[in-house]
Amino acid sequence: MNFKVTNKLTLANNTKRLDILAPAIAKKVKPGQFVSIVIGEGDERIPLTVIDQDLKKGTITIIFKEAGDSTKKLGELSINDDIQTILGPLGRPSTIEKVGRIVCITSGIGTAQILPICRALKNVGNKVVGIVGARTRRSMMVEAQMRLTCDKLFCTTEDGSYERKGVVTDVLTEVLERNEVNLIYCIGSAEMMEAVSQMSRDKKIKTIVHLNPIMVDCMGMCGSCRVKVDGKYVLGCIDGPEFDGHLVDFKDYKIRLNAFEETEEWRKHRLQPKTKTNETKTFKRFLSGILRN
Ligand code: FES
Repeated sequence: MNFKVTNKLTLANNTKRLDILAPAIAKKVKPGQFVSIVIGEGDERIPLTVIDQDLKKGTITIIFKEAGDSTKKLGELSINDDIQTILGPLGRPSTIEKVGRIVCITSGIGTAQILPICRALKNVGNKVVGIVGARTRRSMMVEAQMRLTCDKLFCTTEDGSYERKGVVTDVLTEVLERNEVNLIYCIGSAEMMEAVSQMSRDKKIKTIVHLNPIMVDCMGMCGSCRVKVDGKYVLGCIDGPEFDGHLVDFKDYKIRLNAFEETEEWRKHRLQPKTKTNETKTFKRFLSGILRN
């Protein structure tokens, strides 16, 4: 079965939103889950969080940044184009419970990923405080939807072009000083999630982080998405993507993410046939590196 693109929008610099016909997934997917997309024959899998679903139309919505060759190719698709395979929903859904006041803190593309979680948390009766960051006003995304969903929304931009100049952790410090907070949800860079987890550990506030480890097969078989949590390796695609931020080994997580840079390098080499021997060696080194750990 092919999956048809039914709508396409450009949200910000290099950031696209696609609605895709996938009725079976739309029916089952829950906040926090993702799908694995293969655009066409021979293309690699792209794991992407499902941002929304429309049961009437049978569509799912994804938002992504064109960061590499695969996501660029995905961004070049037009309405009515077909996608070869979409597998999902994958990963564990977010735990949605009424706990009181919840801070949902994120930046960049994470804002799109956290939106369905904020909605679900709000729908069960929580007070949701959103803290979202972006580099510039132009790169701020889904702000209107976040404003509609959250009881209170703070926006920061690194260059000060919109609302408050600074980073999201500045705002979090103030929110934690002024309010009792029962839970923190955090999606963002490894550095940001680590900083938030450190801040909340001191105050003993449970913190859920949404990890984005390297994923190759997205099905629990390749081991590339291993993350160290509470001293043990677990799989991001099966046991995650959400984990207790106080138990995640962020040092290990960052090392493994850096291995991804090598993969990207490898893929670039692959496009140049003259480096075939080196390319095989580089990829084998990468695979043995990630599988060894
Ligand atoms: Fe292969 Fe998770 S992506 S085991």
